[in-house]
Amino acid sequence: MMAGANGRFRWAVLGPGFVATRAVMPAIARSRNGAVYAVASRDRARAEAAARPFDAPRAYGSYFEALDDPSVDGIYLALPNHLHAEWTMRAARAGKHVLCEKPLATRAGEAEAVVAACREQGVLLMEAVMYRFHPRSRRIEAIIGAGQIGEVRSIQAAFTFPLRSTTTYRLNEEEGGGALLDVGSYGVNAARWIAGREPLRVSAFQRANGIDWRTDGLLAFSAGLTAHLVAAFDAVEHQSLTILGADGEISLRHAFTAWRQDETTLHVRTASGDSVLTFPPADPYQLMVEQFVAAARGEEPPLLPPEDGLKSVRVLDALRRAAASGQSVAVEREVERGPRGD
Ligand SMILES: NC(=O)c1ccc[n+]([C@@H]2O[C@H](COP(=O)([O-])OP(=O)(O)OC[C@H]3O[C@@H](n4cnc5c(N)ncnc54)[C@H](OP(=O)(O)O)[C@@H]3O)[C@@H](O)[C@H]2O)c1
Repeated sequence: MMAGANGRFRWAVLGPGFVATRAVMPAIARSRNGAVYAVASRDRARAEAAARPFDAPRAYGSYFEALDDPSVDGIYLALPNHLHAEWTMRAARAGKHVLCEKPLATRAGEAEAVVAACREQGVLLMEAVMYRFHPRSRRIEAIIGAGQIGEVRSIQAAFTFPLRSTTTYRLNEEEGGGALLDVGSYGVNAARWIAGREPLRVSAFQRANGIDWRTDGLLAFSAGLTAHLVAAFDAVEHQSLTILGADGEISLRHAFTAWRQDETTLHVRTASGDSVLTFPPADPYQLMVEQFVAAARGEEPPLLPPEDGLKSVRVLDALRRAAASGQSVAVEREVERGPRGD
């Protein structure tokens, strides 16, 4: 069941909303190893409308139908956050690989169960953290790995925008709304990635009214490394990542959502001076779906193993608890596993 026509991985998309139709389905259509095979919506007409531009042969009026289709190799799950765990479990039980939108679940316990279910079923689970696939991210790793900025001391990550919609699930706590789970996922991912380890304790402050409209978080890692996060629905459109080392710094704007037509830059200061590195347009969504398929086929290890998504949810959970209690809280300890979570 791993190869469709021309050996392409047959994707089924669950929830043809903003990110699916605008970013990931076009990326799958352009990918070297996959195709949009099916679109599943709660509404068949919506599925058909979303399937048409991609010549997807199947349009389903329920998510179950996509999971029941034996021709489907894997799922791209783009539902609101509170449905991620439930539908990943169902997809895993149906034997489908799952590329799940961030975050993997709204609570650490759910994320644990999801990772365990995918491992038991032998399917790949990956959190769709697309910016990690961008060539700029590879360069950041190389600069830090080569010791060019010295030991990393402090990480600052911000993703904010003014949320104007009055109908989005992002406004509803029960649907996994709030700034922390939405844009805070990126900051948590970036902090863990750059640190190369898990935070020990976190503190947080939230401006809350139904949901958190803004979360400011502080992550404390071993060896005195800290990360400061800002995630907000009540501030200007802004994305930045700054990495301060003992001997230099890396900083980038538009740090997380580079679109395929965007040229991106990286500001680097080392002992030998300042430089601005420029990257030609690249589609991180396409690089992500291509890598996912290669990993699902066992051709290469996944860039983001399932445990990575679980670790991020643990930190998000800890930040939420810290904000609610007004105290710094310990992050649940991770259980180390292999690249596919086994
Ligand atoms: N990586 C990125 O760049 C990026 C960007 C934005 C969002 N995201 C993530 O992607 C996921 C979806 O975000 P989005 O902005 O695409 O949301 P969206 O436009 O609201 O789309 C979500 C889709 O889920 C389906 N759905 C099922 N139950 C629903 C419910 N109770 N309420 C609303 N929709 C429901 C809907 O499709 P049907 O009714 O047709 O089934 C809807 O179109 C989120 O987890 C978010 O964190 C990622």
